Amino acid sequence: MSIACKNMLSKVMFTLFVVCNSESSAEHNFTYNGFRSANLSLDGVANIAHNGLLELTNKTKLSIGHAFHPARINFKNSTNGTALSFCTSFIFAILSDVPALKGHGMAFVIAPNLELRGSRADEYLGVFNPINDGKSTNHIFAIEIDTNYVPVFNDINDNHVGIDINSLSSDVTSSAGYYDDNNNGAFRNLSLFSGKAMQIWLEYDGLNKKIHVTLAPIKVAKPKIPLLSLARDLSPILDEFMYVGFSAATGSSLSSHHYVLGWSFSISGQAQELNISQLPSLPHIGPKKRSMVLTVVLPVISVVMFVLVFTYLAFLIRRKRKFAEVVEDWEREYRPQRFKYKDLYVATKGFNDEELLGSGGFGRVYRGTLPNSKIEIAVKRVSHESRQGMKEFVAEIVSMGRLRHRNLVSLLGYCRRKGELLLVYDYMPNGSLDRYIHGQPKVTLDWKQRFQVIEGVALGLFYLHEGWEQVVIHRDIKASNVLLDAHFNSRLGDFGLARLYDHGADPQTTHVVGTHGYIAPELYRAAKATTSSDVFSFGAFLLEVACGRRPIEMNADNEEINLVEWVFAFWRKGQILKAADPNLGSSKHVAEDVDLVLKLGLLCSHIDPTARPSMRQVVQILERDSPLPDMSSLGLSFKTLKFAQGFEDITMPYPSSSNSGSKLTGSSTVSDILLSGGR
Ligand SMILES: *[C@@H]1O[C@H](CO)[C@@H](O)[C@H](O)[C@H]1NC(C)=O
Ligand SMILES: *[C@@H]1O[C@H](CO)[C@@H](O)[C@H](O)[C@H]1NC(C)=O
Ligand SMILES: *[C@@H]1O[C@H](CO)[C@@H](O)[C@H](O)[C@H]1NC(C)=O
Ligand SMILES: *[C@@H]1O[C@H](CO)[C@@H](O)[C@H](O)[C@H]1NC(C)=O
Ligand SMILES: *[C@@H]1O[C@H](CO)[C@@H](O)[C@H](O)[C@H]1NC(C)=O
Ligand SMILES: *[C@@H]1O[C@H](CO)[C@@H](O)[C@H](O)[C@H]1NC(C)=O
Ligand SMILES: *[C@@H]1O[C@H](CO)[C@@H](O)[C@H](O)[C@H]1NC(C)=O
Repeated sequence: MSIACKNMLSKVMFTLFVVCNSESSAEHNFTYNGFRSANLSLDGVANIAHNGLLELTNKTKLSIGHAFHPARINFKNSTNGTALSFCTSFIFAILSDVPALKGHGMAFVIAPNLELRGSRADEYLGVFNPINDGKSTNHIFAIEIDTNYVPVFNDINDNHVGIDINSLSSDVTSSAGYYDDNNNGAFRNLSLFSGKAMQIWLEYDGLNKKIHVTLAPIKVAKPKIPLLSLARDLSPILDEFMYVGFSAATGSSLSSHHYVLGWSFSISGQAQELNISQLPSLPHIGPKKRSMVLTVVLPVISVVMFVLVFTYLAFLIRRKRKFAEVVEDWEREYRPQRFKYKDLYVATKGFNDEELLGSGGFGRVYRGTLPNSKIEIAVKRVSHESRQGMKEFVAEIVSMGRLRHRNLVSLLGYCRRKGELLLVYDYMPNGSLDRYIHGQPKVTLDWKQRFQVIEGVALGLFYLHEGWEQVVIHRDIKASNVLLDAHFNSRLGDFGLARLYDHGADPQTTHVVGTHGYIAPELYRAAKATTSSDVFSFGAFLLEVACGRRPIEMNADNEEINLVEWVFAFWRKGQILKAADPNLGSSKHVAEDVDLVLKLGLLCSHIDPTARPSMRQVVQILERDSPLPDMSSLGLSFKTLKFAQGFEDITMPYPSSSNSGSKLTGSSTVSDILLSGGR
């Protein structure tokens, strides 16, 4: 039994028991495990809560709470006036709404009356006042449980327990804590203000005139070594009949609460052990809990929220910058043709190198899949610094975007960013035609496929020249600008896109030489592209496809061989089929077709623009709706052509490579890509 009063000397126990038993009465001992059914004398703001918790104070400022056992208790042997042994134990808790603001403490009090008249509601704990403090006439014995440091009372700190006799200046005092039995009696600090329930045992040995006070956390059994011990005869201090109870005061603090959970008392005997499981609980949403929320949870949540919001904002800003576009007022009408940069970014996996289809003078072309529609696209990134002429340029691309023909690569739209223009095209899975004619292809096109390609390009170009509301001059017809869809249907590409598919040889020389051979001679003089100059290029293209040779190739002596000239030589000897690609086979049907295409190629390459057929005628001839026109003027053409080739080499060494390129990178408009009138 590690219960109260164990420290009493066993020698006197028998005597005491005899005394106790002989004078056994309900007045002399009592036990409250919670105060639900207790008949206490309450004063001031003291209150017994619904669950039986004794609340000495509430939030009323400068208020006192008194709670006393209602009946007087006989503390003395009436025969010889000696103070009797007694012991008591109680469980208390002090807590605060605002831990930083410590209120005053509380006291266990043995007093001659219930009123404690004149006591002050501050550091005097509702027990004394400045006038009576220290006077022997008080006859007050108290245990102070003090959470305030008051130098006037010789307090040692703001967390101490003291034995007070007639004064708040303790006769003996100690910092709150206990000597731990489980740890060789090592001292452990306790915080009275912690809001945790703790137990105090007070024992007075009337025989040896000793007072012991012991403190411990609620779950810890009474330590063997008391916190405070005082040798003092209480006979002069106590009256014969005294009241026992508790006192607490709020002072100017609004926040501290003083609670008593259970209490047992006994004169000349052992105070009954309190049953912890029967005690009332402390307020759930008590001040302490709320302060936890205020001081720990809320700041943590706020910090987390702040970090989240900040991260999110930073993410948004970065994202906004990453996907920033340039949009001007005049572009409003082009909204349907405008792509969101974000979509293009996602489509091309962030312009990943793995999606790169090719790169050239203008920039790079990427394959992509639009996020929502899953449409496959080719995105060309063109760098442009100048915004001059951008309005006209975009107007023209949008206008080009409205061109729809099965033999034209569709320009789906565009997007603008700072220093960058993005053009979005249909994706052509089989790339450009020259890959199949030149280079070292694994797949060569047979004649049927080539003729289909030729017809397609002819129809596409015919549509550009005559099929639309405006006359469109393509300006850059060549094998590398002819793209093949999944079924090897040919489509004429725009804006030099096809050039970027050039995987074969060194792009620069290929491009310069190739384009060089496609340019109509009159262009070098007049520098004005016409439908006839497109027809000239188409002628070169026909010969290229039928012969499997580039319009201009180098021979062993590094001299240019002009394809037109070369084919013309065969034609003049009446052996034009010898110019054809040997891979094509020699069936009669193929031979007729090849013969037709080669002759048409020569006609289209006529030095005199007016002698060239129109694209309408070309289509009719290819479809055998009209016969080939008279070829007799070709002899003259050949001589002039020779002259023209020499001339162009001197004046315009690298004509086309910078041609459409300069338009895209910049300065003015693309009016030369899209010309109106002159039908
Ligand atoms: C009072 O003390 C006596 C003797 O110790 C004990 O038998 C009795 O149960 C106690 N009564 C209460 C209410 O504690
Ligand atoms: C404190 O107790 C007194 C007396 O019971 C009461 O009048 C007052 O309203 C209480 N104050 C609070 C804040 O509960
Ligand atoms: C409470 O105690 C007082 C004083 O002893 C007494 O007058 C009163 O009748 C008691 N009330 C109850 C309900 O026991
Ligand atoms: C009071 O004191 C007298 C004389 O010393 C003694 O006989 C008596 O037993 C005591 N009574 C109690 C209750 O201690
Ligand atoms: C009073 O009686 C008690 C025994 O009940 C005894 O221990 C004590 O010494 C006596 N006091 C005086 C002053 O005689
Ligand atoms: C206990 O409290 C006292 C007084 O506040 C302090 O001096 C001492 O260092 C504390 N001891 C421990 C172990 O916390
Ligand atoms: C404490 O109270 C509980 C429930 O009221 C009871 O079951 C238990 O036996 C009590 N313990 C003691 C030591 O009296």
